[in-house]
Amino acid sequence: MKALEGVKILDFTHVQSGPTCTQLLAWFGADVIKVERPGVGDATRKQLVDVPGADSLYFTMLNHNKRSIELNPKNEAGKEVLTRLVETCDVLVENFAPGALDRMGFSWERIQEINPRIIMASVKGFGPGKYEDCKVYENVAQCAGGAASTTGFLDGPPLVTGAQIGDSGTGLHLALGIVTALYQRERSGRGQKVLAPMQDGVINLCRVKLRDQQRLSVGPLTEYSQYGAGIPFGDSTPRAGNDSGGGQPGRILKCKGWETDPNAYTYFITQAAVWEKVCDVIGEPDWKDAPGYATPAERLDKLDAIFARIEEWTMTKTKFEVMDICNPHDIPVGPILSTKEIMEDEGLRKTGTIVEVDHPTRGRYTSVGCPIKLSDSPVEVTRSPLLGEHTAEILKDVLGYSGEDLARIMESGAVGTAKQAAE
Ligand code: COA
Repeated sequence: MKALEGVKILDFTHVQSGPTCTQLLAWFGADVIKVERPGVGDATRKQLVDVPGADSLYFTMLNHNKRSIELNPKNEAGKEVLTRLVETCDVLVENFAPGALDRMGFSWERIQEINPRIIMASVKGFGPGKYEDCKVYENVAQCAGGAASTTGFLDGPPLVTGAQIGDSGTGLHLALGIVTALYQRERSGRGQKVLAPMQDGVINLCRVKLRDQQRLSVGPLTEYSQYGAGIPFGDSTPRAGNDSGGGQPGRILKCKGWETDPNAYTYFITQAAVWEKVCDVIGEPDWKDAPGYATPAERLDKLDAIFARIEEWTMTKTKFEVMDICNPHDIPVGPILSTKEIMEDEGLRKTGTIVEVDHPTRGRYTSVGCPIKLSDSPVEVTRSPLLGEHTAEILKDVLGYSGEDLARIMESGAVGTAKQAAE
């Protein structure tokens, strides 16, 4: 069996944040029923299209293992169907703009009235307060959550990061909130409301930068490069380039081929415990106990020079050779992998983190599988649904519509023009 087998999710999500969450729940075995606007669907189906006429990778890579029903809850028959879905499902997940669900006639109060055991889980840009009505996308959350002000180089503007910490990061937070609420329901018998604001999720992921904000009041952040360079600190956590976020100094260093390959770099951490091995590897054995080099505290104001010397060495090796030489010595290093290298990585394919999926209209494509591995709940990644592919199936098998009743719904305009109809 799968971990979440038997759990029914009414998936009212779109774009990235919500779909990331429900995709994870689907991979863990939940029956995820994606509700989409008739004839239109999730806007990402038609965004960044690479195969004309087929669902985009944007959509397919975020909606695996789900079923799709076309449904307009603003239509009377649509309201009836949605009410039945709320009655039947364990969880409703949504990431509409604030107030959209209420405007459809499905406030939290109404939803609880229909099914007191249901968990209603929402992603919003901001939590309660002056910005609660704002629409929010990824980069807005990265900026409002402290990530942008602490990313980039000291002498440059704030930067957003490629990791979608605002969208996918919040989806992860929401998924945890949902399974936690399901666990509590086992004992309380009651559902509850779960809210994961994107700003709050990014702040949670920026926790160490807020740690540093408070440390500033007692003196400079000695592990930041600017300390070694003698640049004064301001009143908030500065951008730290590629400095390590923890107590062990680290930098990104050039490797062999950097002149032509934008990713011929390695991350290199001079962890205190392996300092002597670092000295041996780079050919500076005297640094092991030279005055000013022997302890981490003494080295702090020399980090630029130390990393410059290490880089002289890494530039004579490829990023993979650096990994092969340093790993046996327990020196923590990491090659800067390109997206191409990641997608071609045999190890990641073996573990199911990179997968190949067949799709009827776009053909075979590569996707990211489930990054969380449960030993007793294996994941099989299946393709995303076509728009309304399961409309009739869900009406019949999940909601029990049949005969004239089913025909009435199919012809109401609430469920699109589903071709699979009531055969
Ligand atoms: N049938 C009929 N109407 C539907 C529908 C369906 N199945 N599904 C959605 N709609 C309607 C909504 O009711 C809403 O109508 P209303 O504004 O008249 O009430 C309308 O579609 C638009 O929904 P909205 O959520 O406002 O979409 P948007 O494209 O304008 O905004 C976001 C997109 C992402 C900015 C916004 O949804 C948002 O801020 N979400 C919360 C934060 C979030 O998740 N952001 C990250 C996204 S990755």
